[in-house]
Amino acid sequence: MLSYSSYILIALAALLVTCHALSKCPGMSGLPGIPGRDGLKGLPDSLDAERPNASVNLKHRLFRLEAVLALNGKIRKVGEKMLASNGKKVDFASALQSCEEVGGTLAAPKNEEENIAIMDIVKQYNQYAYLGIRKGETSGPFKYINGMPLNYSNWHQHEPDGKGKEKCVEMYTDGTWNDKKCNMYRLTICEF
Ligand SMILES: *[C@@H]1O[C@H](CO)[C@@H](O)[C@H](O)[C@H]1NC(C)=O
Repeated sequence: MLSYSSYILIALAALLVTCHALSKCPGMSGLPGIPGRDGLKGLPDSLDAERPNASVNLKHRLFRLEAVLALNGKIRKVGEKMLASNGKKVDFASALQSCEEVGGTLAAPKNEEENIAIMDIVKQYNQYAYLGIRKGETSGPFKYINGMPLNYSNWHQHEPDGKGKEKCVEMYTDGTWNDKKCNMYRLTICEF
């Protein structure tokens, strides 16, 4: 909450800005009389009332923006995630970098619903994609980029078969996974 004196400052600032804009400032020799509390009645209410409206308006605009992007196939929403591709085929490191540069990471399906959403993009571009999953430098199991263990997988039959030499994972157009070398050219799909 703003203090009472803050409202007076805001009111004064508003008065000065307005009067300068209209070139109708009262004589500024000495401060204008400070209005009593009654003079500012209603100001706090109107200030508070505008904030929820602005936030509702913003949500509504974002909702419409997302709908337009989804309609054009630019983004896909699944749960709290948003998925998008730049349509580029690059190696694993470059794909991860382009996602991180814009505040996301390489898409990694955490459940079947997310796997299907990523598969839809793979199908849309008809290109296999790298997933945000890899083996550590030394071997060990496949993990998410942030080092967490997998809690969902959708390996193709007989995969992974790289015996540790294929440290990255690609998604086929049927949504199944295959372990793959990290220096191939695969579609970049990011999650946000
Ligand atoms: C795995 O964990 C994530 C949360 O970290 C959750 O969203 C997801 O549904 C889980 N997947 C399964 C198959 O339980």
